[in-house]
Amino acid sequence: MSAQVENSRVDYAKEDVRRVIITGANSGIGKAAAIRFAKEGFEVVMACRNMEKAASAHSDLKQAAPNGTAHIMTVDLSSFESICNFTNEYKKRFGTLDVLIHNAAYIEHGKKGYQVTTDGIERSFATNVFGPHLMTERLLDHLSQGRNPVVLHACSSSIKYFFDPKRTIDFDHITEENRNSKDYNVYKMYGDSKMGLYLLTRRMSSEYIGMGIRTNALMIPSTRVSIETLKKMSLYYQLVGFLLQNLNPFSRTPEMIADIYYNICTSDKWSMVNGAMFDYREKILGSPVGNRSQSPLQLIKELWNTTRLPPYAVEQEPMERLWSISSEVIDPWRQRP
Ligand SMILES: NC(=O)c1ccc[n+]([C@@H]2O[C@H](COP(=O)([O-])OP(=O)(O)OC[C@H]3O[C@@H](n4cnc5c(N)ncnc54)[C@H](OP(=O)(O)O)[C@@H]3O)[C@@H](O)[C@H]2O)c1
Repeated sequence: MSAQVENSRVDYAKEDVRRVIITGANSGIGKAAAIRFAKEGFEVVMACRNMEKAASAHSDLKQAAPNGTAHIMTVDLSSFESICNFTNEYKKRFGTLDVLIHNAAYIEHGKKGYQVTTDGIERSFATNVFGPHLMTERLLDHLSQGRNPVVLHACSSSIKYFFDPKRTIDFDHITEENRNSKDYNVYKMYGDSKMGLYLLTRRMSSEYIGMGIRTNALMIPSTRVSIETLKKMSLYYQLVGFLLQNLNPFSRTPEMIADIYYNICTSDKWSMVNGAMFDYREKILGSPVGNRSQSPLQLIKELWNTTRLPPYAVEQEPMERLWSISSEVIDPWRQRP
């Protein structure tokens, strides 16, 4: 599901510096990625909502990459107003943008009841889909001046359809009209929002390529979580998270995923790839085989086999529906001074 950029367009930035924004750079994969990009000579903007944690991550970065340049900026991805303030401030302080990594994400383990933002949107979709969409839209002019600019979306292996071949995005719960429905589930919404982010990847890849901006995604598998992240959970979920992710021999480390972020965004090998979903082996996932009616054996293989996208990732209707909802909710904020 990827397309190669047709003309070998390489737009060299007017500035010498290569610059990256990484959201949620105060812990886990985002922090590891900030360190990796800083070591490689990028000027890093760490877009974080908690300044105390960000300052501590920044000091770790300075230790790991003493010659690196990194700045902390504040943003809450679940608030459109905060995103506008962030992008305004970025434009005042910085110039062109080469890489934008939407790494931050909302998931609150064990949280019961409908989670809504001040903008009246379900919190997973607000933070993981519409917030990144708005931030990208407001930075398009700076991205389009970048050096072979690319946007990377942190998706998740939770988009697999597991044993439900009929899996679809739960569109009914995105806005708060159905907030009292019993079907709302924070884990389902998280997985759906990550699929939403991939559908956005596909749509943005055709929308922005005219400006020379590529958009790709990475399907992140189970990865060790930081102490900071475990601390955000109740004791029960700390234990479960630690057992399932940190003691799981198949879990990746944040540094492994950060390396993949770096390679996808900067290596010559991928410099023409647009609209792709990569896996943790740095391979592009292929189109699904067959349709939604798969045999039990195929469904079991699907659990382990990450070489192909699930069928609902490539359907046209959910992509257009998601794009239309996202465009509508961010519309009043696109041009907001
Ligand atoms: N770890 C895994 O097993 C796994 C698997 C699949 C996908 N992923 C994806 O990988 C990415 C990084 O996850 P991680 O494992 O590194 O977890 P993490 O350490 O918890 O990182 C998540 C980051 O997102 C930030 N964030 C959350 N809500 C935000 C908001 N409203 N505004 C701004 N920042 C916000 C958090 O900030 P605070 O510290 O302030 O909360 C934190 O810095 C996420 O997109 C996640 O969905 C992870």
